[in-house]
Amino acid sequence: MLKGSLNPAVILLQRKYRSLQQQLVRLREKERHLSVINSFASALLKQRTTEEIAWSITNNAIAKLGFEDCVVYLLNEEDQVLEQVAAYGPKNPRGTEIRDPIVIPVGQGIVGTVAATGQAELIGNTAKDSRYIPDDMVRLSELAVPISSEGKIIGVIDSEHSASNFFNEEHLHLLETIAALAATSFLQAQTQKKLRRYREALERQVAQKTINLQEMVNKLQSSNEDLEAFAYAASHDLREPIRTIASFLHLIKRRSTGPIPDETEEYLDYAIDGAHRMNQLLSGLQAYATLNDNQLEKSPIELNHVVQACLKDLSYSIKKHNVRIDYPEALPIVQGYPTLLHQLLQNLLANAIKFHRPGITPHIQISYCEDNEWHHFAIEDNGIGIDPEFANRIFDLYTRLNNRKEYGGTGLGLSICKKIVSKHGGKITAAPAPSGQGARISFCLPR
Ligand SMILES: Nc1ncnc2c1ncn2[C@@H]1O[C@H](COP(=O)(O)OP(=O)(O)OP(=O)(O)O)[C@@H](O)[C@H]1O
Ligand SMILES: [Mg+2]
Repeated sequence: MLKGSLNPAVILLQRKYRSLQQQLVRLREKERHLSVINSFASALLKQRTTEEIAWSITNNAIAKLGFEDCVVYLLNEEDQVLEQVAAYGPKNPRGTEIRDPIVIPVGQGIVGTVAATGQAELIGNTAKDSRYIPDDMVRLSELAVPISSEGKIIGVIDSEHSASNFFNEEHLHLLETIAALAATSFLQAQTQKKLRRYREALERQVAQKTINLQEMVNKLQSSNEDLEAFAYAASHDLREPIRTIASFLHLIKRRSTGPIPDETEEYLDYAIDGAHRMNQLLSGLQAYATLNDNQLEKSPIELNHVVQACLKDLSYSIKKHNVRIDYPEALPIVQGYPTLLHQLLQNLLANAIKFHRPGITPHIQISYCEDNEWHHFAIEDNGIGIDPEFANRIFDLYTRLNNRKEYGGTGLGLSICKKIVSKHGGKITAAPAPSGQGARISFCLPR
């Protein structure tokens, strides 16, 4: 009786015990799944490429869940097919190798349907599902979940098992969590990949453009050198016949027996003058072409010494025109080509003297300042000044703004100055003097 009355209670207890045990198993299983997801999530942080992420799904998640087989597919948007990028189980014989990889068009088979609809598929018996496409072997249950972000399909995680009804809702939930975690990483990796490709394409374009530009510069440089070599040879070779013409014209004038008619003498003078002028132009051109001499070497130059040497060279015209020249005592020492800097300053000072205003005592002021990168110089005079409209053109070859009868010259001096300054890596400009009377030529040389 006692035994009989206890039985139902024992049975109840036994049932409760069994149910608690089952709950415990389920809880343990859940705990295991959570720990897999946890370690998968932290492993994901280290993956950079889409391939690394896909292999992380199979190696860090699926392999620890006790599934038989799993394949990760990624969508090839261009061809609208799903490509196998990582696998676990018989499809992965070693390393990151996939045995006989296949592609599945979107919409075909269970995997293709998942990619088309964005809905997971849990198939209890594949034998009853006409969509089932066997890959390496026929298996009876299948679980396929989409990897998607903001409605955009990235790929599919597909797991199969030889037993029917192997996968349950818990597995579905688990794979969906893994897919959701992976989706963000895939998106990031894809964006990075696109950015990388874009940057590489841009770098290739820039590199190609630089090569083209360099080729153009080389061609230009070589044609420039050819031109200058030609200018030098021509100016050098033409001077000799010009000198001959001038000397024989002189001879004709001097040795002529009997009186020369006035008109003929005038023509002879024109011809002699023309020959002299041509000689001057050619010698200027020769000086200009010689500037490209690559034999020259830079050295430290005390500009105060250069200015003093120029003043000495120009002493005749300084005295003649009673010129006052002021310059700072502390002009800098610069790194440059000595003869060229002398030529530069002498040309500029000679212009400032030559283009003085009649009736006004010429006054020339050399000024200097510096900044972090440049030495700045200016030579200002109180002469006839420069029309700002033509200020840039006066550096062109043979450009003169004044009548030859009033001011002699070949129009080459400032072209030579510009070439000298640019040979030193600097710049030269011309402008009316700020005082309103005269011209100001400024140039800078790198420090
Ligand atoms: N300080 C200046 N004041 C006014 N005009 C100037 C001055 N310097 C140059 N110019 C103008 O610029 C032109 C070009 O000067 P550049 O020194 O090249 O030639 P040039 O003095 O005429 O001849 P060259 O120097 O070859 O003997 C001059 O003819 C003149 O019209
Ligand atoms: Mg000059």
